[in-house]
Amino acid sequence: MSSITLNPSEPSSFKCFVRMSTTKNAPTTVTSPPPSFARKTVLITGASSGIGLSFARLLATLQVSHLILAVRSMQRGSEVAAELKKTFHNTKVDVYPLDMSSYDSVQDLVRRCDRLPQLDIVILNAGLANIDYKTSPSTGHEEVFQVNYLSTALLSILLLPVLRRKCKDNRNSPGRLTIVGSALGLDAKFPNRNAVPLLPSFSKPSTWTGLSSSSEQYGVTKLLLFVLVLRLAEMVRPEEVIVNLVEPGFTGSTGLGRGASGVLKSVVAIVHKLVARSPEQAAWTYVDAIAMRGAETHGSFVCNWEIYP
Ligand SMILES: NC(=O)c1ccc[n+]([C@@H]2O[C@H](COP(=O)([O-])OP(=O)(O)OC[C@H]3O[C@@H](n4cnc5c(N)ncnc54)[C@H](OP(=O)(O)O)[C@@H]3O)[C@@H](O)[C@H]2O)c1
Repeated sequence: MSSITLNPSEPSSFKCFVRMSTTKNAPTTVTSPPPSFARKTVLITGASSGIGLSFARLLATLQVSHLILAVRSMQRGSEVAAELKKTFHNTKVDVYPLDMSSYDSVQDLVRRCDRLPQLDIVILNAGLANIDYKTSPSTGHEEVFQVNYLSTALLSILLLPVLRRKCKDNRNSPGRLTIVGSALGLDAKFPNRNAVPLLPSFSKPSTWTGLSSSSEQYGVTKLLLFVLVLRLAEMVRPEEVIVNLVEPGFTGSTGLGRGASGVLKSVVAIVHKLVARSPEQAAWTYVDAIAMRGAETHGSFVCNWEIYP
């Protein structure tokens, strides 16, 4: 049964945020006993820092057989791989280059995945939030829109058939495609929703006014992921690949707020200290979405250890 058939719920980012502050740690239904990823091949994008890095480390402790770190900096990715290999001798770790600003790079990654003997789980974690307006040189689109939505959409559409073919255990355990969203998408205003043509309207420097534009742009890219996940769920049966969207929760000590400076930086640091999850706590939300949740999350949003249809 798919949760698409259930009545829609009406969460808001504020409700999710409040709930998160009381549910930072994974419940024992997720951690005791923790799932094993032995015999699984898992691809993580943006795995060399933040929540993606903590998730890679967590998967290694959960006996994953083959970990593929898709990263923008091969040097940083190789350092992470070396760190993991030192401790986890039974985990094979590969580092693949991925620059989500470039469609060529996205397609190269998919071609590499297509040559793998096995691929069971993909988690599209790479994402960013910019305070200043920047474009991706090779596409001309605004960078946050490019990375968080356009390249994430392309990567998911191209990887879905690969997962369907390469998941070795379809019968007992389908392939998994989990995209990392954000509850901020629930409140995005999407003022350009009626623009024709729509795509160029996300990349207008003249309408960029700093912090408010930056948070709206981040929110709208995450809102579009809700639609993407619903559409992807129509393209594949949950018996073959389960597709869902996960919110890691407000998480401190990651690179996401790296553009902040001055007063904003201090405010973010204080709020992080008071209420945020650590990247290690947030990594368990990914485990929840890819291993503890089943077909009932196909096309759905998993947030604070709950499913929002
Ligand atoms: N932190 C939060 O409170 C929070 C809340 C909700 C959702 N999220 C989502 O969680 C995910 C992880 O974020 P995080 O907080 O861990 O931030 P982070 O530390 O900045 O991690 C983001 C990752 O994405 C990678 N990335 C950014 N642009 C890329 C590009 N063009 N090509 C390839 N990789 C790229 C980064 O690579 P580099 O290391 O090379 O920069 C980094 O590894 C994101 O999708 C974010 O939107 C975070």
